[in-house]
Amino acid sequence: MARLEDKVAVITGAGRGIGREVALMMAAEGAKIVVNDLGGNTDGTGTTMIADEVAQEIRDAGGEAVSNTDSVAEVAGGQALLQTALDAFGGMDVLVNNAGILRDRTIFKMEEADWDAVIAVHLKGHYCCSRPFANYIRENNRTGCRIINFSSVSGLYGNFGQANYGAAKAGIAGFSRVLALELAKYGCTVNTISPGALTRMTIPLRENRGETVEQNDLDAGGPQHIAPIVTWLAGPEGAGITSEIFHTGRGGVGIMQQPRVIKQFHKAAGVWDLDELDQVVPQLMEAKQANMEAADASGARVEL
Ligand SMILES: NC(=O)c1ccc[n+]([C@@H]2O[C@H](COP(=O)([O-])OP(=O)(O)OC[C@H]3O[C@@H](n4cnc5c(N)ncnc54)[C@H](O)[C@@H]3O)[C@@H](O)[C@H]2O)c1
Repeated sequence: MARLEDKVAVITGAGRGIGREVALMMAAEGAKIVVNDLGGNTDGTGTTMIADEVAQEIRDAGGEAVSNTDSVAEVAGGQALLQTALDAFGGMDVLVNNAGILRDRTIFKMEEADWDAVIAVHLKGHYCCSRPFANYIRENNRTGCRIINFSSVSGLYGNFGQANYGAAKAGIAGFSRVLALELAKYGCTVNTISPGALTRMTIPLRENRGETVEQNDLDAGGPQHIAPIVTWLAGPEGAGITSEIFHTGRGGVGIMQQPRVIKQFHKAAGVWDLDELDQVVPQLMEAKQANMEAADASGARVEL
């Protein structure tokens, strides 16, 4: 039995890369798909009709799909996405917030337009598409829905030259944790993906290092490796899992730590004086180092 039979899934940025693979796999699992993509360049400029091509590809394979070319960066675009799902399929069950762009610069050269464009597509884009869906879930008491958001190690670990993108991607992880709380009452799970895949977004980074990307690299590390965990989370087995971050790519699937206080000292009376902090902060740093080493050890690869 297909896992997403009778479900309606909206996937943003599904014209290529990871989103396209998610759309194809969810369609193969029986979902009716809204393929959203405005078909822009990696920096967010321009438009093409690639969403139509993916929707056609799904229909050619016997599935059901319609396209939508609205921008996720606009409130009206997010509203139109929900409306497209309602008009075409009479409901909506799954939202995959995957659309993205890059405008990499160090902070020294990052213009306001580079900051605004990246925050708009990623962070505001998650808001624009999630809010109408959340209201739809609440107003219709539509239980068992899913929101799957896209973060990045750029925001979760930090990456040189990506202050705009890293800020948006870290913000998306925080956004997901809040939505998970707010939508729990309706049985809607909200999880975050930290992917790693060779796509038009990442291939140039390799090429800039003088490396070539061959077909065997694409087989080992292409966007098809991200689709399974996204599809699994959307399915019935994902019902009890919310507010998590899954790190996936190149055959790997893992779960990330969430921020937690891992050690603390408490002073019952008075505020800390600076000499006391001279003693305490090194112990906090030691605890943090030990925690990281333990996480690195338990997060080591387990071959299947
Ligand atoms: N590829 C990776 O290794 C990697 C790593 C970390 C995070 N991510 C994230 O995964 C997601 C998918 O990335 P990808 O590698 O497939 O990139 P991609 O460039 O191949 O695909 C992104 C798609 O989003 C579309 N898009 C951009 N702005 C849009 C807008 N305003 N409205 C609608 N569609 C829009 C683009 O046209 C494009 O087709 C992104 O959120 C990205 O930040 C990717």
